Amino acid sequence: MQKDPSKKYRPFPPIHLPDRQWPNRVLTRAPRWCSVDLRDGNQALAVPMNVSQKLELFQALVKLGFKEIEVGFPSASNTEFTFNRRLIEENRAPDEVWLQVLVQAREDLIERTVESLLGAKKVIIHMYNSTSPAQRRVVFGKSKDEIKAIAVNGAKMIKERLPRLKGTEIMLQYSPESFSATEVEYAREVSEAVMEVWQPTPQRKMILNLPDTVEVAMPNVYADQIEWMCRNLKHRDSLIISLHTHNDRCTGVAATELGLLAGADRVEGTLFGNGERTGNLDIVTVALNLYMHGIDPKLDFSNLHSVIDVYERCTGMTVPARHPYAGELVFTAFSGSHQDAIKKGLAEWEKNQAPAAAKGTAYWDVPYLTIDPADIGREYREVIRVNSQSGKGGVAYLLESEFGIELPKDMQREFGPIANDQVDKLGREVSGAELKTMFWREYIDRSAPWSLKRFETESKNGVVKCRAKLSRAGKAIEFKGEGNGPLAALVHGFSTAGVPRFEISAYSEHALSAGETAAAIAYIQIKTADGLIRWGAGVDTNIELASVHAVLSALNRL
Ligand code: KIV
Ligand code: ZN
Repeated sequence: MQKDPSKKYRPFPPIHLPDRQWPNRVLTRAPRWCSVDLRDGNQALAVPMNVSQKLELFQALVKLGFKEIEVGFPSASNTEFTFNRRLIEENRAPDEVWLQVLVQAREDLIERTVESLLGAKKVIIHMYNSTSPAQRRVVFGKSKDEIKAIAVNGAKMIKERLPRLKGTEIMLQYSPESFSATEVEYAREVSEAVMEVWQPTPQRKMILNLPDTVEVAMPNVYADQIEWMCRNLKHRDSLIISLHTHNDRCTGVAATELGLLAGADRVEGTLFGNGERTGNLDIVTVALNLYMHGIDPKLDFSNLHSVIDVYERCTGMTVPARHPYAGELVFTAFSGSHQDAIKKGLAEWEKNQAPAAAKGTAYWDVPYLTIDPADIGREYREVIRVNSQSGKGGVAYLLESEFGIELPKDMQREFGPIANDQVDKLGREVSGAELKTMFWREYIDRSAPWSLKRFETESKNGVVKCRAKLSRAGKAIEFKGEGNGPLAALVHGFSTAGVPRFEISAYSEHALSAGETAAAIAYIQIKTADGLIRWGAGVDTNIELASVHAVLSALNRL
């Protein structure tokens, strides 16, 4: 790296817009969306999609609710041309869906593009040429006027050919490519020159797409550029202002959101931000960011897993684990305190707020979860996962949500660190099933020194008498006891057999599973005369026996 980067790089010049309005606005509705997955996204793949992959992705985009889809660059290759023809000839686009095609401002390419559109219902012809100083100087070696002439001539060539698309509803779109690196006054001049040719009206608008082809500044600068254009262009009411951001500085989403505040009507982007270099704008994120603020995004991501599947299968790309909303880990908490907060938040939501939310009197406000994962088809089971960073809350949550094991709070405090120690030794994440095995090993499967051979009770006038046959370190022990319940009788019996005194300081139980052979689980805390406290747990089809096993489990852990 440079010792003094200012010798090699310079700051981006700000836009003069002292009375900018966008910072005081809020978004209240979804923009028009245009997916460019099949064009910009496809152009960025090491192995571009074949026709059947493009068809599959096209159907998925339609299903998500996209009404404008840039399907390709028909003049660029036979695959692109054939794909376009198949969409049209096989009538694959629903009536309300516009097929958008991209073309450079060159006659041969425009000719071939128009050919590819014959017989279509609704099309957007998207013409572009690059306008930034670097593009003018390095790529084209042309003056500002010459670059403007490329745009104007291309616009004329398209206009001349429109009568050939009789019966097709047509919208025209122009992009001054590299707009964000272009002087705003010049971008306006070129755009207005194209408008002069196409003559849009408020009834027959044209799309003016203002691309952040390469992110060169902070998102507030892009917003200023968009607001400047919206305020200074002629015939604003005849234009649909469209945003097309890339993500070179990792602010593609922010630039689009601020661009919408600045007055844009439409957004181009791709699923999960696939696209050249660091990608295009991620439409999923912008749509779900709106959703998170209670705005209907008009795109349906209620089964995000299936969208990821199609996307990964067709593009060969993968969605990273930390990708907003979609990544495997974005609704997952490993940290104990986060798990605890989520567990409490979800419980409060289920109990109090979900019913109130249905009446519009409560809103989602669960710590660490920006939206309800269930809304996009994610499962609560994914939310809490356990590794060595996790605490008792996560352990208890998994045991309860996966196996219906409802550990009493105090017992969670005892078992949490035990489980944590074992997970730490494993040095990896553990599953709910592994936690259950640890719990069984620690409490249920303990049979030494005490184990149960037989336990019977009879009750008369509120007094319960018990007869117990136990084994202690292999030696048979029998005793009788009585009390106001089976457990009191058992504790009394132990005292008559010379076992050091203890009392039962906490008890709870519940059914584990439904059915005739349903098992019950009992949790018992004992306190010895020396003040030692231990939990035990027992499982049996008979609840009385489950609690006897639980007492023995606690004694075995002394
Ligand atoms: O990024 C870009 O500028 C483009 C244009 C063709 C719109 O993809
Ligand atoms: Zn692009």
